Amino acid sequence: MSAPTTPLRTFGRTKARALKPRQARLLKTLLPTLAAPDAPFDPRRLRPDASEVWLEVGFGAGEHLTAQAARRPDVLLLGAEPFQNGLAAALARIEDLKLSNVRLEPGDARGLMMRLPAASLARLFVLFPDPWPKTRHWKRRLIEPGFIAEAGRLLRPGGRLRLATDWADYADWALEHFARSSAFVWTAEQAGDWRCAPADHVSTRYEAKRLGDCSPLWLEFERV
Ligand SMILES: C[S@@+](CC[C@H](N)C(=O)[O-])C[C@H]1O[C@@H](n2cnc3c(N)ncnc32)[C@H](O)[C@@H]1O
Repeated sequence: MSAPTTPLRTFGRTKARALKPRQARLLKTLLPTLAAPDAPFDPRRLRPDASEVWLEVGFGAGEHLTAQAARRPDVLLLGAEPFQNGLAAALARIEDLKLSNVRLEPGDARGLMMRLPAASLARLFVLFPDPWPKTRHWKRRLIEPGFIAEAGRLLRPGGRLRLATDWADYADWALEHFARSSAFVWTAEQAGDWRCAPADHVSTRYEAKRLGDCSPLWLEFERV
């Protein structure tokens, strides 16, 4: 029998500068009230009045997650992020905006995804995933066949996955991988569809830094 394999880390550091006192307090007091359950659960049961459930994988400091949650109080937003400083910044935003429609996974999104039932999500966001540009690190890229299969399991038919990147090679990589999946179709019809940010996008400070080698590219895939 082969030994179970732990998936490779797709993220970099999980801690940076020391937390501000408010952030440390929020991790202790607010996070436990918002943390996604540890066992398999149906997110629609967490808020039966929610019209849809969306998931953001790697929400960074939570600017996009919390802005979407504030805009769409009818939606339950799930978010996963292992970087503690980002998580703490997101908690401060959640408190400031008094959001009650957000649940968080303080770690690898793939652990959360495994606990969710099939077809429970309407939207999935992967915005500026760690690019891992060196060839020897490609195996750490979040977008890979296993992730795409899991996203296909979780999105309901007609559900959408939005991927943004400012690395040209990562966009090509993602298109190649999604093209091999029968669960998704790329929705683009013209160049503007991948060159212009979608109307409902919310930019983040990370995005504004333009750390990649091209302008942001926007890829939207629909679950067939
Ligand atoms: C480059 S940052 C972008 C952050 C944010 N999406 C934005 O656009 O501002 C990528 C983030 O994805 C997170 N990440 C990478 N792999 C992840 C995983 N498997 N689960 C959850 N988050 C992950 C990293 O910790 C990092 O904060």
